[in-house]
Amino acid sequence: MAVSEAPREQAGPGEPWRPLAGRTVVLGVSGGIAAYKAAELVRLLTGEGARVRCVMTAAAREFIGPLTLQTLSGAPVATELFDLTQESEIGHIKLADDADLVLVAPATADLIARMAAGMADDLLTTVMLATRAPVLLAPAMNVNMWSHPLVEANVERLVGTRRVLMVGPGAGFLACGWVGPGRMAEPVAIVEAARRALTRQDLAGRKVLVTAGPTAEAIDPVRFIGNRSSGKMGFALAAAAAARGAEVTLIAGPVGLTAPLGVTRVDVEDARAMQREVMAREGGADVLVMAAAVADYRAQGQAAHKLTKEELGAELRLELTANPDILAGVGLARAERARTRPLLVGFAAETPSAGSAGDARDAELVARARGKLTRKRCDLVVANDVSTQGVGFGGDESRLLVVGKDAVEVLAPGTKAALAHGVWDQIVKVLP
Ligand code: PMT
Repeated sequence: MAVSEAPREQAGPGEPWRPLAGRTVVLGVSGGIAAYKAAELVRLLTGEGARVRCVMTAAAREFIGPLTLQTLSGAPVATELFDLTQESEIGHIKLADDADLVLVAPATADLIARMAAGMADDLLTTVMLATRAPVLLAPAMNVNMWSHPLVEANVERLVGTRRVLMVGPGAGFLACGWVGPGRMAEPVAIVEAARRALTRQDLAGRKVLVTAGPTAEAIDPVRFIGNRSSGKMGFALAAAAAARGAEVTLIAGPVGLTAPLGVTRVDVEDARAMQREVMAREGGADVLVMAAAVADYRAQGQAAHKLTKEELGAELRLELTANPDILAGVGLARAERARTRPLLVGFAAETPSAGSAGDARDAELVARARGKLTRKRCDLVVANDVSTQGVGFGGDESRLLVVGKDAVEVLAPGTKAALAHGVWDQIVKVLP
């Protein structure tokens, strides 16, 4: 049968915002009911641009047919260690060598035991043992099996090798009728763990605080002063930091986005609430990145009820009070403590003068960002030109300049997901 290659995506290996693109993932499937979720996993992994090569144990084939995985992965499914045809076509050592990641989902108690014993008695365990790539296990089994001391010891032993990673299991209803831990992690969480397994962990052990989105300053219970920030830039920064191993808290203004996996989210409405949450955490953080577009003013005294048309009248005059400058407040507190923590990264959304273009425009952006850097006592300020609609505010793409006291790094324009990693690359360089 002619089997086509899985299409290669544009992004190649090594791009941190798409760590699976162009990579070879050997997906091992062992024999548990969760094997049916392997089909969804193949779909998600190929959607990320990965080349997926499936290996199934004999027990796995009792739960799901190889044809399903072959069709979805666009590549033959390997099942036998001692099949001459399969061995000449695929080769178990070639599979192990080609793999950038060996992902086993579901990983049963039996498979975990055989791996922990260093056995290579079928194709999957042989590949797991022969590969130099990280091995990521997504365990799935009955709750009593999962809590059995022998399984616990096997898991501990495998994780202790530092070449084996785990995702899940979660707790919930199990196919066997029990409720509790043992349920395989959801495919999206497994794919996220796979992305992380292939991402440089240069923020491991770091505590990171990120703010995102606008703040909404209430006028009455339904009306507010706000701005066009969607939260996308801040959420991308939080996701990138978590992918690079940081412990991330994301303080988000009112936005309709889902928190990235593994990130602690704190929702706030207005600037003063954002300030409270930031100040409560900044002392314990290694880095504070303020990507939020904090409203500069709030209405003086909010109405307790929705103002009627009559109350509003033909002309509405609002008295505004300046909001606290959160970033400047942290800068000052840090200076007063004579500490270097947290590293302070501000953002500056600017609309340079109408006539300026090219280098002159960038020079204007840099000058404004430096002004903020000095005034707010930041280590870095990330400048974005938001004069084009859909770029910077609201859109998925941007162009950023990372401005330090003496140096400027112009990041290539791109998606906020890509740029977020570019910003972290610069932060990592100056992190004590
Ligand atoms: O959310 P998106 O749609 O993805 O858009 C992203 C963004 C354009 C909002 C983001 O990239 C950005 O630039 N955020 C900062 C917006 C801004 O204009 O900030 P500013 O110039 O008002 O403030 C400078 C810095 O001080 C910022 O880090 C800001 O968070 C902080 N600040 C501002 C006012 C205030 N009262 N307290 C603060 O801490």
